[in-house]
Amino acid sequence: MEAYKKLLLTNKAWAQERLKIRPDFFSRNVEAQTPEFMWIGCSDSRVPAEEITGTEPGELFVHRNVANLVVHTDLNLLSVLQYAVEFLKVKHIIVCGHYNCGGVKNAVTHNDFGLLNKWLRQIKDVYRLNHRELEAISDPVARFDKLVEVNVSEQVHNLAQTSIVQRAWEDEHRPTLHGWVYDLRTGLIKEVAMMTPDSQIEDIYHFDFHPKGH
Ligand code: CO
Repeated sequence: MEAYKKLLLTNKAWAQERLKIRPDFFSRNVEAQTPEFMWIGCSDSRVPAEEITGTEPGELFVHRNVANLVVHTDLNLLSVLQYAVEFLKVKHIIVCGHYNCGGVKNAVTHNDFGLLNKWLRQIKDVYRLNHRELEAISDPVARFDKLVEVNVSEQVHNLAQTSIVQRAWEDEHRPTLHGWVYDLRTGLIKEVAMMTPDSQIEDIYHFDFHPKGH
């Protein structure tokens, strides 16, 4: 059997199994979704968002890209973010990176990856912003782990720097932003960052939605 056919067969068995456990498993979610969480994760096949968090269909609004980056010119991510915040009104946005991330690892080499160079460049910036802390770590594995962590923290800050999040913080006092790192070696998630509507962001990134005198 061709490998892809196994996926379709497994899907049939999965759907039957779900209905056996809960007859309204599918019908309850047909009309609308009301997820509490937006998930920004890495595309890596080893980090399945729903599986590692025990969430079911309808619970996570998911965006994944190489190295879980929040890039302010990424129309795709910004559209997902706007929809999640303004329409779905998610309460939490989780940026989840992972140790042994190929994107992060390759970004700090001098290799030429073609188009990917432009994407991975964001991580070179993260390295530059944190180079003192990183270069103080002599063990290469520990340094790589730290880069994964600071990359997640930077992406959480990138979220806070969007007008989408700032407007929601001002008007509706949500969402809370979380930075997590998943450990492929243990299956466990480590919390590395959190920002709430009360968090201070650097002044230069702050938008004034109600300017006086305009
Ligand atoms: Co990755």
